[in-house]
Amino acid sequence: MTAQLEGKRFLVTGAAQGMGRSIAVMAASRGAESVIVTDVKAGAVEETAEIVREAGAASSVILADLTRMSDIQRLVDETVAAAGGLDTLINNAGIIDSVLMEGARFDTLDERVWDIVFDVNVKAPYFLSQAAAPHLRASDRGPSIVNSASVSGINGTQNAVAYGASKAALISLTKSTAVALAPQVRVNAFLPGAIATPMAMDFLDSVEDREYTMNHMTGAHLIPRFGEADEVSEVACFLASDAASFVTGGIYTVDGGTLAWRGLRA
Ligand SMILES: NC(=O)c1ccc[n+]([C@@H]2O[C@H](COP(=O)([O-])OP(=O)(O)OC[C@H]3O[C@@H](n4cnc5c(N)ncnc54)[C@H](O)[C@@H]3O)[C@@H](O)[C@H]2O)c1
Repeated sequence: MTAQLEGKRFLVTGAAQGMGRSIAVMAASRGAESVIVTDVKAGAVEETAEIVREAGAASSVILADLTRMSDIQRLVDETVAAAGGLDTLINNAGIIDSVLMEGARFDTLDERVWDIVFDVNVKAPYFLSQAAAPHLRASDRGPSIVNSASVSGINGTQNAVAYGASKAALISLTKSTAVALAPQVRVNAFLPGAIATPMAMDFLDSVEDREYTMNHMTGAHLIPRFGEADEVSEVACFLASDAASFVTGGIYTVDGGTLAWRGLRA
């Protein structure tokens, strides 16, 4: 079943590229009324807004740095002003240790990196959800929050210690937010495996043994390849849709089977 999103007003974070762009465009193509897109990357997120409009939804860009508390309330206020309300918050923006620090390992990771990773991956989704809550509770258009967690929030990770811990926190936060906002607002998370986006490619570029790491990332999938952004967006759009009307507090893997076993394909 194709998830239909008629009339919903979306805010998608981290929408300049990768899964954020894919979710924004898919939401538009499934009937969303408006998709407000936000990121720190001005040119790329403007491009996303253009593609969203071509896909059939109203769109505008709000630039915001999710490490700044002052940007978070402003982002929600400007979204509601632009769209006339808010029905769906997609907490997709995320950052991984290796983007912030060369040689980010368990023994070397510094406090600045830890703080930024937690600010973007945990603190921002929480305070965005808190700021959005009054608008979501007031919505009569099937309101929900969808968080982008990771299989790294379940299993230990090599070379992404802060990232893994932050995604574990986001999984817990998803459940607490679902409790807090029930029954009016549904709250769920999806857990991607290794998906072919700029984040995954940059991570590969950061490690010493690229081929070994790539085999490890895709070999852990029962479906032995990288996932595509659109394969994750399908699940995100389902969770945001009225087809998921009895789904809340859920954690949905989109991981090619990674968490189903302890093996590695040769
Ligand atoms: N790609 C994967 O394999 C993978 C796997 C599991 C989970 N995820 C998660 O999925 C989500 C999307 O991942 P992606 O692969 O598309 O990532 P990506 O790096 O390609 O895109 C993430 C976006 O977040 C934005 N962002 C980062 N810091 C920000 C800040 N301070 N303020 C505002 N925006 C900021 C970036 O500018 C970027 O556009 C992330 O939460 C990521 O952790 C990705």
